[in-house]
Amino acid sequence: MRTANEILAALGSEDGRRDPMPLFAELHRIGPVCRLAPGSSPYAVVVNGYDAAQEALKDTRFHRLLSADPNPKELVLRRLGGSMMFRNEPDHLRMRKVFQAVLTPRRLTGFEPVVDALTEELLDELGKGGADRKVVDFVDFAYRLPITVIGTFLGIPRSDLGWFRDRTQRIDEYLDLGGKAPEKLAAANQAAGELNDYYARMIAERRIRPRDDLVGSLVHALDSGTSGIDEQELIDNLLVLVNASFVTTMNLLTNGLELLLNQSRLVDALRDDPGLASDCVEEILRHQSSVQLISRKASTDIELAGETITEGSLVLILPGAANRDPAKHPDADTFDPGRDDLQHLSFGAGPFYCVGAALARMEGRAAFAQLFQRFPGLQLAGEPVRSRSLLLRGHQSMPIRMG
Ligand code: HEM
Repeated sequence: MRTANEILAALGSEDGRRDPMPLFAELHRIGPVCRLAPGSSPYAVVVNGYDAAQEALKDTRFHRLLSADPNPKELVLRRLGGSMMFRNEPDHLRMRKVFQAVLTPRRLTGFEPVVDALTEELLDELGKGGADRKVVDFVDFAYRLPITVIGTFLGIPRSDLGWFRDRTQRIDEYLDLGGKAPEKLAAANQAAGELNDYYARMIAERRIRPRDDLVGSLVHALDSGTSGIDEQELIDNLLVLVNASFVTTMNLLTNGLELLLNQSRLVDALRDDPGLASDCVEEILRHQSSVQLISRKASTDIELAGETITEGSLVLILPGAANRDPAKHPDADTFDPGRDDLQHLSFGAGPFYCVGAALARMEGRAAFAQLFQRFPGLQLAGEPVRSRSLLLRGHQSMPIRMG
């Protein structure tokens, strides 16, 4: 049996990135919390058991941590570190409240027809691109849907939407396991600077020409002194909100299409009953978690699944492994949207639970409800290529024919 250190090293390899699931199974055989040899890794333990991962995610004594330096000089760390995503209480809640106030269930429900219509429009374009049995890349659609949805929600002009993909990718690559090489840092710093300037300009424009979109209402709250955050914090949170919203959802769509096309009976069932899309989305998220790595730092000594995690230790939580824990899900490796218990940790848990979960679910439902009705003969036209990211599990390309 390999040690947890050996398994973690294998996770970072080409094969591990492509298919981490057998490695997760090895971790489960060791235990729900696997200790790493002292000094061998920045992390003290890996948390892979479902209950242990849920407990760790909910426990605010496990702090979020982006950099050991509280005042980092690197721009990417300053921008990300200024957002709720990498903050602890009380700052985290102060910022989160601002976005929860605008991402209300009522506003989101009202947005559902817009998501359906955008999905229809983008599927039209996909269909046009794939006319005459031309091969098209599903990843392009999977990018355009979530970026168009968040862009429409925030009030980002359509013509700007293509610009975000590459910048976000550079930041995500830096955040990935093994992504701290100097050239990756330089690329991420540059992207963070460009994104910062974009949102600063957007805020300035709303002041000159007030608009009734999400950024307009956030700027209004900022200027009336009622938002509880300052301008730089608004910029940092917008940057993280947009970044967090589309690669994750893009991965949900590509992971999902690959899984569904491997089971033609599910494609037939979805085509006959688009209402099944909801359970399919949950099972896709469980089976292929879009986010695979979450780091925390113990702010005090903490007991987790019988292990003592000492103050200051770093823990690596693996939601994708937790979702495949055989103690939680019988037959965990089988993709089965009909299973009784569709619970997963793919949106995190507790106080940091994803603020965009409802929106992501809405997009997944709209896409899978419409896709096979629209293109009943849709099929893969070549081998899908997985992205190299371990942090964000998805695809680089997925050639398809519309039938
Ligand atoms: C399938 C799609 C998505 C997945 C799998 C996902 C996953 C996650 C996870 C695991 C976390 C918790 C991170 C932690 O505990 O440290 C999180 C937080 C967050 N997500 Fe998502 N997300 C998705 C879509 C979205 C969307 C569409 C948005 C924006 C509209 C969004 C915005 C955020 C933000 C702002 C946070 C930070 C919340 C906080 O710090 O309290 N996400 N997401």
